[in-house]
Amino acid sequence: MNKNSNMIDTGIGFGIIGCGAIADRHAKHIIEHKEATLVSVFDNKTEKANQLATKHKVQAVTSLKELLDNKTIDIVSVCTPNGIHHQCALEVLNAGKHVIVEKPMALKREHCEEMIEAALKNNRQLFVVKQNRFNPPIQAVKKLMDENKLGKIYAVMVNCFWNRNEKYYKNSDWKGSQELDGGTLFTQFSHFVDIFYYLFGDIQNIQGVLKNCSHQGMIEFEDSGCFTFTFSKSGALGSFNYTTSSYEQNMEGSITIFAENATIKVGGQYLNAMDYQKTNGFDIVDLPVSNTENDYGFYKGSMSNHDKMISNVIDTLKGRGAMMTNAVEGMKVVNIIETMYKQAQWSR
Ligand SMILES: NC(=O)c1ccc[n+]([C@@H]2O[C@H](COP(=O)([O-])OP(=O)(O)OC[C@H]3O[C@@H](n4cnc5c(N)ncnc54)[C@H](O)[C@@H]3O)[C@@H](O)[C@H]2O)c1
Repeated sequence: MNKNSNMIDTGIGFGIIGCGAIADRHAKHIIEHKEATLVSVFDNKTEKANQLATKHKVQAVTSLKELLDNKTIDIVSVCTPNGIHHQCALEVLNAGKHVIVEKPMALKREHCEEMIEAALKNNRQLFVVKQNRFNPPIQAVKKLMDENKLGKIYAVMVNCFWNRNEKYYKNSDWKGSQELDGGTLFTQFSHFVDIFYYLFGDIQNIQGVLKNCSHQGMIEFEDSGCFTFTFSKSGALGSFNYTTSSYEQNMEGSITIFAENATIKVGGQYLNAMDYQKTNGFDIVDLPVSNTENDYGFYKGSMSNHDKMISNVIDTLKGRGAMMTNAVEGMKVVNIIETMYKQAQWSR
């Protein structure tokens, strides 16, 4: 990819737009990868760009144009609030660069379609970050599914019980906003929607109920929801129960699979542990140790597999492998969440 003036191969050149909490993970793992260079970072708040740049000893730029005009940048991570992923990704793609978009890909299916069109038109790659797919228990269940070991799938039940407190929302100028955040399913639990979609495919017959139990005045949407549905391909029953009102701390993030040949629960708080298994002779054993969760100080989020995500991006660009999460899958998850919200009733 790009070469510096001494013609030494500096690997794939990266830029970052949006220099908040998750950008720090992108920066760390880009810098640590021997085939990548973090060239520069941009934030519309100059102090945020400077902070990230100083910490990682890279250049901060003061305009998006400057970042996009830089010919040594091959790919840009979009780490801005959810509601502007779409606009940022279009600018990156139309500048002729590949793009990595943090989850969720966007807040509307039509925005995802525009992003895919721009990627195709500019012959650039569009990656979506869904790093929980790399969790060892999830990869083990995916392998069982691919090998048809589980038999008929009867039911899949997802439970997401986390805590997001007043401090979390007060510290942010976009979290809790309908326009920029989009809802609890988008910001907190889109990884879990992605995992059930990754393992079992699309859903239909969606019914749900939403409630804001403990975040009145803090967020413009629900903090809790209960959904039922069926899986389009297998006909299996599905349920998805979630809340960010778990008392004082995250409690659980799990998916339980009831199938002809096994009952399996992948849990922990972030789908990072095997909580239960009873199988017809194919127990999941000797899993590699999962990475730890992302710890942002006063709250914890999903798994810190951004190292694996960056490696996958580089392998894909170098023609050594396939994307872990492609843009069509990113769009499907956005579409499922949009449909869940459309089908749900409010309970007050
Ligand atoms: N993959 C994961 O597990 C994971 C974890 C956390 C966050 N995220 C996602 O990453 C994104 C950022 O989340 P965060 O927690 O880092 O938020 P954050 O608020 O800490 O950071 C966002 C940054 O974007 C900047 N910004 C806003 N508008 C901008 C613009 N137009 N141009 C340039 N910069 C702009 C803000 O100033 C801020 O510094 C969100 O989409 C979130 O859903 C993903």
